[in-house]
Amino acid sequence: MITPWQHGRFDARTGPSKVLFGRMYEDVAIERAAFRPRSRVFCIASAGCTAIGLAADRHDVVAIDINRDQLAYAADRIAGRPAIRGTAERVMGVARAFAPLVGWTRRRLRAFLELDDPAAQVEMWRALDTWRLRAAFGALFSVTALRAVYASPFLAFLPSRLGAVMRARLARCFARHANRTNPYARALLLGELADDPPPGAGSIELVHGDAAEYLESAPAASFDAFTLSNILDGTGPAYRARLFAAVRRAAAPGATAVLRSFAEPAGDLPTNHAVDDRAMLWGIVDVRPAAELSA
Ligand SMILES: C[S@@+](CC[C@H](N)C(=O)[O-])C[C@H]1O[C@@H](n2cnc3c(N)ncnc32)[C@H](O)[C@@H]1O
Repeated sequence: MITPWQHGRFDARTGPSKVLFGRMYEDVAIERAAFRPRSRVFCIASAGCTAIGLAADRHDVVAIDINRDQLAYAADRIAGRPAIRGTAERVMGVARAFAPLVGWTRRRLRAFLELDDPAAQVEMWRALDTWRLRAAFGALFSVTALRAVYASPFLAFLPSRLGAVMRARLARCFARHANRTNPYARALLLGELADDPPPGAGSIELVHGDAAEYLESAPAASFDAFTLSNILDGTGPAYRARLFAAVRRAAAPGATAVLRSFAEPAGDLPTNHAVDDRAMLWGIVDVRPAAELSA
């Protein structure tokens, strides 16, 4: 097995692959700001949101996914068909069903999401971040609860006290980005999946396969930009080294790479843009020259 993602499932059971993500929880504004105009971009397909957003900016995108069902779903979305709920949305939906128990009524959440002043958001977040919420996040993000949904490779790299870490990531976002214009906040708190506008002038080529394998056989120096989602979460050091070597080889001079992770950064990471990502979930959003990716 090169990566646990190849099963197309979160759990360790054998069975058919599934659509795991109905939309992406990665803020494409990061890539929009980082990539040079009219780049040739290597992208992870997932639910297609990043590919669609980059094509709208006139980049030419190769979007790959190892999960055939997820890739077919991305193709549907690129063709303009509406979003559906994947496994990730169903899991979040179950968690959201308990929201009223911690005082998070939909009415209150809607009022929170209407705010556009970070200072007011911080104030209201203080009222929402009750001891009940802390207890609920602690339980929800405990190893025992997560094991019911996720296979062990998806848990090994997660920070301890994940509930507290996630609450801190939410608070960090509300203190910085206006809720009203943040589609990721709406998706996370209310489960509302906005449809992406149709792709613009750039092209999107969809590929089924493994990222490292594809890049190893791509022409050298053929991509100006890479956005690798968090595909290294759950893999080992050998795959990480292989992927980075493949990226460096396929990277044109001056190419940029974006790599996300749920893990907390090990130390000071000056290239970390996690605070800028309005999806708010990430510990690491590393934006750096592709030539500098090393295991
Ligand atoms: C890494 S997951 C994470 C989802 C993401 N954080 C989001 O918000 O959509 C995204 C996609 O990467 C795909 N994937 C994981 N490892 C891959 C690999 N080595 N090569 C190609 N696709 C991969 C998965 O099948 C999944 O559809």
